[in-house]
Amino acid sequence: MIQVFYTLPLLLAIANSVTYASPVELKRRLDNGLGKTPALGWNSWNVGQCSAATATSALAAANSFLTLGLKDLGYTYINIDDCWSLKSRNSSGFIVPDPTKWPNGIKAVADEIHSMGLKFGLYGCSGTQTCAGFPGSLGYEARDAATLAEWGVDYWKYDNCNTPSGNSSGRFMTMRDALEGARRPILYSLCQWGRDSVWTWGKTVGNSWRMSGDIEVKWASVASIASQAADISSLAGPGGFNDLDMMEIGNGGLNPAEERTHFALWCLAKSPIILGTDLTKIPASSLQIIKNKALLSISQDPLGKAATTFIPDSTSPVPVSGKLYPYWTGHLSDGVVVALIAVDSAVNLSVKFADVPGLGGAGSYKWKELVNGTTGYGTSVKASLEAHDIAVFKVMTGENHNG
Ligand code: GAL
Repeated sequence: MIQVFYTLPLLLAIANSVTYASPVELKRRLDNGLGKTPALGWNSWNVGQCSAATATSALAAANSFLTLGLKDLGYTYINIDDCWSLKSRNSSGFIVPDPTKWPNGIKAVADEIHSMGLKFGLYGCSGTQTCAGFPGSLGYEARDAATLAEWGVDYWKYDNCNTPSGNSSGRFMTMRDALEGARRPILYSLCQWGRDSVWTWGKTVGNSWRMSGDIEVKWASVASIASQAADISSLAGPGGFNDLDMMEIGNGGLNPAEERTHFALWCLAKSPIILGTDLTKIPASSLQIIKNKALLSISQDPLGKAATTFIPDSTSPVPVSGKLYPYWTGHLSDGVVVALIAVDSAVNLSVKFADVPGLGGAGSYKWKELVNGTTGYGTSVKASLEAHDIAVFKVMTGENHNG
């Protein structure tokens, strides 16, 4: 007979091994192969909140992706936000799509959207209820992930309302593991509003993470979110990006210059670009902005490096957190991007390439301005901007004629 004696050292060793389990868990990384570049899509929330969480609005957006040429530009995901289900799970514990909003269920709509060459996303919550009071996934993660896989869901936005106190990372990891277990590639979009310094661990858990509270249809909100993103730009990259929240382009409240800057900054910061307007009614000027191919190529650059602010010379002010800064730059796989922003009022701005980090000192370069399409060659760029407008220069580093 073998007798086991539990000595104090052995018990301590067992206790230690339990303690060691959590660092091992923290090192686990999401590896779903998705989101190598920021997601491009549409979401129902900014369109009509709960009232837009319907099959009709999902299919209308999908049709608009085709008819407006958005699909051809890479816009792919049609995402339904809060309020798509009934208020209670069924007696077997499954979430039930609201039959008045989804007369043929969710799968039929996902199938139709797939047949159009697009992808379909849904929203859930890591608490007991979603923010609007619909069933949350806390305690039901594996069951809900399996349901999503069965329906053919491709994108899962996961929110943070009605949650127990404590650090949110564990709850978001539980859903990560459940999605992995469901064996369908589902892009995992964390939405906990930048709590718990999510940018420091988001990349091990999800393909993107909201880094701020909800966007509002006003310039101050756009400017504040973008300025916060500049501080954490280095923590994002292929497979895991800072999410600056859904677009407000087309919703009124931002003038054309502000809509241009909103779009360009989200591309520069490598945020998902999730359109948030009724595409069947989008004004022509807004449509033109979201169809800017050159800016979309900045968003989708394979290097996946987010731009951030830089101080061009000793006479320039230093960036202040929460206040939009006029000078931005970032690396691209085939050059460097430089943006100038009229943060307060109309202004003439210029920058010498010699003062741009990443351009390797003085030199003459070919450049292209991506909002208006003008091109040039020289040692600097300049822009005459109306209030809140932006100029975005792509500088071709392969063309350094002084080098
Ligand atoms: C918020 C979230 C919004 C939207 C809303 C739905 O927490 O940040 O983007 O999803 O919930 O209730």
